Amino acid sequence: MDIERVNQYINGLYATRTNLSKTKYSEETALKDFTPTIDTEVARFLKFIIHLTNARNILEIGTSIGYSTVSMAKEIINNNGKITTIEYDEVVAKQALSNFARENVDRAIELKIGDAWKILPSLSGQYDVIFLDVDKRLYPALYEDCIRLLKPDGILIADDTLFPVVDLDEKWRYLIPYIKEFNDLVIHDDRVMSTILPIGDGVTIAIRRDADL
Ligand SMILES: C[S@@+](CC[C@H](N)C(=O)[O-])C[C@H]1O[C@@H](n2cnc3c(N)ncnc32)[C@H](O)[C@@H]1O
Repeated sequence: MDIERVNQYINGLYATRTNLSKTKYSEETALKDFTPTIDTEVARFLKFIIHLTNARNILEIGTSIGYSTVSMAKEIINNNGKITTIEYDEVVAKQALSNFARENVDRAIELKIGDAWKILPSLSGQYDVIFLDVDKRLYPALYEDCIRLLKPDGILIADDTLFPVVDLDEKWRYLIPYIKEFNDLVIHDDRVMSTILPIGDGVTIAIRRDADL
């Protein structure tokens, strides 16, 4: 299966049903120098999960210009919920804040500016959903804190977990070992039930099974 073709097909099917595509959002952002955001079909999946689980409390690790944050906020607002999102690049964080206001979702978002590696251990909230989309080298190191911060039956969603098999730009290939290590951690962890979906560059979804903790 050619994942890129699959994603193009899905995006084509939903083109007229998507009011916040990655392309449109990025074009409307003044800052042009930022790390890639999630793909449009991943944004659709995040909204789907939030609706399905009636999520009210989300933690996002890796904000960038806030495309994923805004996509989730548009759904969580219907649940009177809130997103806490973490970004350490102050320039990109400033752009994210202005995008939150432009999209009229700022009331549902708290942006923490700082290093996720330092912030995560200090958090004690119980989250319905944690969305991990930070520097891939941090995925294995942040995994235990993600599990600790999930509510029973809470869901960890991690982006880019099919890096080892997608057609990846040469400049990102050094990240593959970290993703492999992360995938190993999740797959061999009896505390979670998980799978990997071939959307975007691969999305892991892992549910904390409290009965087994
Ligand atoms: C892939 S981008 C996030 C994209 C965003 N989730 C979206 O789809 O719109 C990853 C972001 O994580 C930030 N980042 C990388 N390492 C970090 C760290 N240690 N703490 C906080 N943010 C970090 C980067 O500056 C970058 O903006």
